[in-house]
Amino acid sequence: MRRLVIRCPAKINLTLEILGRRPDGYHELRTIFHAVSLYDEVQLWLAERDSFCVSGWPDVPADETNLCWRALQLFRKHWGLNRPVGMKLHKNIPSQAGLGGGSSDAAGVLVGLTELFSQCVSPQEIPPQLQAARSHPAVLHELAAQLGSDVPFFLYGGAMLGQGRGEILSPCPPLQQGAFVLVKPSVSVCTKEAYQLLSPALFTGGEYTARMFTILHAAPESPLLEVARSVYNIFTMPVEQRWPEIAQVRRRLQQRNAQAAVLCGSGAAVLGLYEEEAQAKAVAQELAQEGFWAVAAAPRADGLQVAWQ
Ligand code: C5P
Repeated sequence: MRRLVIRCPAKINLTLEILGRRPDGYHELRTIFHAVSLYDEVQLWLAERDSFCVSGWPDVPADETNLCWRALQLFRKHWGLNRPVGMKLHKNIPSQAGLGGGSSDAAGVLVGLTELFSQCVSPQEIPPQLQAARSHPAVLHELAAQLGSDVPFFLYGGAMLGQGRGEILSPCPPLQQGAFVLVKPSVSVCTKEAYQLLSPALFTGGEYTARMFTILHAAPESPLLEVARSVYNIFTMPVEQRWPEIAQVRRRLQQRNAQAAVLCGSGAAVLGLYEEEAQAKAVAQELAQEGFWAVAAAPRADGLQVAWQ
């Protein structure tokens, strides 16, 4: 049986602001998501019975708590398609890093299953709306949002303004230059715990994100310095106070001449922004030699990459 291979990118947040707490327990946010060239890989195939295995990072569970598994169950329930599926996940993106790896994998499963069933199951079994999802990922938006606030972003990729709890998305021109270094110390940050560290005194009105949105629209070919001056993340201060190793990583990037160094999502990874790819690669190599997880990556204008093997 042919396998479908889905490459699932990580994301960074060029800005991340919280406007306030919402009655539903979530926080109202403003953010600029950006896809980056660091990928997990999901493989899917029609099988005799369900199976799921995980490789790569050792701390990722291959059970019903994994977002990939939850995405498979939700997809089946929603579309009434119960064929057994084999699923394999290879992790390159660290968990609890703020890089959206689990969310990207879940979006990859939704998009991948759409392709798998559309190609491999008789047309009568496929709801017409699901056929439409092959060219219009927005059909999967509601399902994605049920799996997590960041999951819908990965249906589209590139750069997006995120509002609401992160699921209300508006396209934004992606960065066309610059190189990233992603670094993570050995600590991991649970998103829920990071949100609990926020106090209302830190809340802002969305102005940092509005500024970044304008910069990316105004001069998408040469805004790197402006972007570097305008990056912002509300979690930086409280998260670095709680986990000083993260502050140390950010200082390391500043010492190595990053144009900007900012937390990824709610951490624990930190993003360093550089002008040149060669510079980013050299810094990543140096920090990896010091014992951190560190990789160089590039901004991406696309998202999930789906191909038959
Ligand atoms: O949506 P997701 O399941 O990824 O969120 C994980 C946790 O992060 C939530 O349970 C909530 O505590 C917090 N969160 C929040 N406001 C958001 C997004 C996430 O409070 N906009």
